[in-house]
Amino acid sequence: MDKKKVNILRLREMKQQGRKITMVTAYDYAMMTQVDKADIDLVLVGDSAAMTMLGYEGTVPVDMDTMLIFNQAVSRGGKHTFLVGDMPFMSYEVSIEKAVENAGRIMKEGFMDAVKLEGGERMANTVAAIVRAGIPVMGHIGLTPQSAAQLGGFSVQGKNIDGAKQIVKDAIALENAGVFAIVLEAIPSAVAKIITAKVQVPTIGIGAGPYCDGQVLVIHDLLGLFDRFTPKFVKRYAALGEEMQKALNTFAGEVRRGEFPAREHTFTMLEENEERLIAELTEEGIL
Ligand code: KIV
Repeated sequence: MDKKKVNILRLREMKQQGRKITMVTAYDYAMMTQVDKADIDLVLVGDSAAMTMLGYEGTVPVDMDTMLIFNQAVSRGGKHTFLVGDMPFMSYEVSIEKAVENAGRIMKEGFMDAVKLEGGERMANTVAAIVRAGIPVMGHIGLTPQSAAQLGGFSVQGKNIDGAKQIVKDAIALENAGVFAIVLEAIPSAVAKIITAKVQVPTIGIGAGPYCDGQVLVIHDLLGLFDRFTPKFVKRYAALGEEMQKALNTFAGEVRRGEFPAREHTFTMLEENEERLIAELTEEGIL
């Protein structure tokens, strides 16, 4: 495989060269082995796992120990892709010490290359402390799903001047705190354009328009594997859910018609051994 794993210096270089950065989420070994073979620069083990893998309505319920299991599975399948571990709700808000400790666990026990956390200005001190500990941090501003309750739902952010100004200030605060990249979620493309031009670190958009330095999608949305609500910014590149239905129903049909398993899927024994087995079992009163 000639895929070369990116690092945070290469990502900055890609921004300078105008080479777009690609990122998807992944949560398990099988999916990660596929992503690892594809032309994808970054993987986020997102707390969206709470929805895509665990069936919750939002990202809030997932905890550190559960995220570490997803991190570890992904790390076993991702040898050529830069891996970012999302910090779950309440793993970094309580205190800076707790945030540094949990970021460290994601690196040491989850085998990630970096962590991501949500929040701009209000999280700048926490980000700076994690960076000082030697851990690369990706920021995440705009729509921050962990605070959806406080934001009044999963709605577009920064549509008015004050809101947009705050998001620009958030991006600048994160850059000053030392992040290596910033996810911009669900904001007008004009705001993403201003931020992308202003900061030196790459911006990765999801619902933030075409001017970002890169784009990220949740892999279940991209592959057509999530049939609950899909936001306007999602593009489906495959219909794997439909493919799975076809495969499962074909299997069920073949089993019911006695077509599966066929001879090539079946282990055999010598006919004389089969006859002797039945004879001996009968003699021993077992049959
Ligand atoms: O958890 C996640 O999947 C995310 C992306 C939407 C960026 O944070």
